[in-house]
Amino acid sequence: MCGIVGYVGGERCVEVLMEGLRNLEYRGYDSAGLALAGPDGLRTAREVGPLNNLAGTVGQRDGDFFSMRSGVGHTRWATHGRPTEANAHPHTGGGAPVGPEVAVVHNGIIENHAELRDELRARGFEFRSETDTEVIAHLLGEGVAAGSSLKEALVETLQRLQGSFAVAAVSAAEPETVVAARHQSPLVVGLGEGENFLASAVQALLGYTRRFLFVENGEVAVLTGTSVELSTLDGRPVERDPFEVDWSAEAIELGGYEDFMLKEIHEQPAALQATLAGRLDADGSVDLSELGFDLSGIERIDVVACGTAYHAGLLGKSALERLARIPVEVAVASEYRYGDPVGDEKTLVVAISQSGETTDTLAAVEAARGFGARVLAVTNTQGSLITREADAVLLTKAGPEVGVAATKTFLTQVAALYLLSFGVAEARGARPVEEIKEIGRALRRSPEKVEEAIELLGEPGLMSAAVGVFAGARCALFLGRGQSFPVALEGALKLKEISYLPAEGYPAGEMKHGPIALVDEQCPVVAILGEGTLREKTLSNVEETVARGARVIAVANEDDVAAGRIAQSVLPVPNVPQILSPLVSTVPLQFLAYHVAKARGLDVDKPRNLAKSVTVE
Ligand code: F6R
Repeated sequence: MCGIVGYVGGERCVEVLMEGLRNLEYRGYDSAGLALAGPDGLRTAREVGPLNNLAGTVGQRDGDFFSMRSGVGHTRWATHGRPTEANAHPHTGGGAPVGPEVAVVHNGIIENHAELRDELRARGFEFRSETDTEVIAHLLGEGVAAGSSLKEALVETLQRLQGSFAVAAVSAAEPETVVAARHQSPLVVGLGEGENFLASAVQALLGYTRRFLFVENGEVAVLTGTSVELSTLDGRPVERDPFEVDWSAEAIELGGYEDFMLKEIHEQPAALQATLAGRLDADGSVDLSELGFDLSGIERIDVVACGTAYHAGLLGKSALERLARIPVEVAVASEYRYGDPVGDEKTLVVAISQSGETTDTLAAVEAARGFGARVLAVTNTQGSLITREADAVLLTKAGPEVGVAATKTFLTQVAALYLLSFGVAEARGARPVEEIKEIGRALRRSPEKVEEAIELLGEPGLMSAAVGVFAGARCALFLGRGQSFPVALEGALKLKEISYLPAEGYPAGEMKHGPIALVDEQCPVVAILGEGTLREKTLSNVEETVARGARVIAVANEDDVAAGRIAQSVLPVPNVPQILSPLVSTVPLQFLAYHVAKARGLDVDKPRNLAKSVTVE
């Protein structure tokens, strides 16, 4: 978590840093800050709370502040030390009487910070914050004061650090330079004309450039307005071709929507379309040649992921097992990585991560490497860490997702896993080709069907009736069976993360074994009915909650008359082939969470305590 930016070149330094931070705010919003370097010293500004607080402070600074040509910025998700101004980055080191000041921003965790802090204190350094980052600032400042260049001081400092980091620094001694390095936390260099940029993620800089260079683990970047030099820690120069991203700057603007989450829910049909394009033909046949894998040699699949991506994995398992008849395990990445997983080179590990940066998912990939698995990454982020760790990548093409609560990336992850299930089914000859193609043709209709779901839910009064069921609610129970169970989990997660209401997702049949004790008038039941036999069974379970006073919201096919008899509110979804059911059923739950949170006056895009990229374990 935490977002860092850097800039060197022209007088739009403050503008670029602030815009970059605005686009990285999803990574953390406990505090934010800037440091600018000029020949007569550093200028810093730091504020607790969202970026607007920093913007207010920056707006009051004098012209001098805006004439600086290099700087670094940071938006924080607190790990070491509370969200206070003292703990906000940038952190400074050096300074009179020992020499010129440096300023540092950091994303990651310095594991040996306590020892370094003791050592620096013993040498007379005073600490002004509770952060792990401040040790970097002092070490760097000490190096510069002792006569090292900023780059040399950075390399010396990095050799002392254990843990994960992406760091960027400026110094008053070299105001035309920004230096940076990374180990395990993400960092990209953006290339400009007469200016260059740094950021944790490409979306920070899309308004300024689409040409980027990866900085790999253990590399140092030195940027001036006219040059970018990459080298290894031991000083070997690194040559790397730039890559171009096809995301547009508009994609990270609100475009008339009140919030990114709402915008991103509405973007789901287009996101699905883009993810399927070129991979699923009109006749329903799948083309995954981009993977460069022979899928026929696989004997089992482990899916590893966190949060929403884990729920997508559960839906992937159901499709893979049903269509490809291959055993699939789905594991929460933070458990898998420490769980001594069993497998061999015939195991395919599918690592799902929207950001491609989640530390636990990356560690699960490493654990799988330990037993020789092949790794396929399903990610939405071009050039992310996971794309470089995996043997093959299946990109979801949802475009950048800014709202912290995942919406369009979830649906596209599910679609990508469905494509994989077709590919594996075909390679294994698990089902008649025509049967898979027919399901493929159904999947091609997902953009249109999700669009229909969005339209159905737009009917006046529908969502407000559902939100009304939540009046006075103290918790919620989401129930579903079969494919609707992962949907229930996802619905519960969406609700709790943005409305702060405790919510449980449960298999409807399991409810009697405990959670039914929660049920009363203040604990609404959200039932995802689905269709077929499982619908009947779910309905019976819902009846059991009604008998105990539950108020019910049912997600049901638009022609499901029985749903209206038991539920206070019915959220209709179009009738669809089985494979599309989870896709369309998720949409009402996203809207429900959104509207309940709005009714409670909450910021849906930046829920408390969360960040979109979880780069700590
Ligand atoms: C929930 C949500 C999180 C993420 C999880 C994994 O709305 O967004 O649960 O799904 O943190 O993130 P990625 O997919 O980036 O690995």
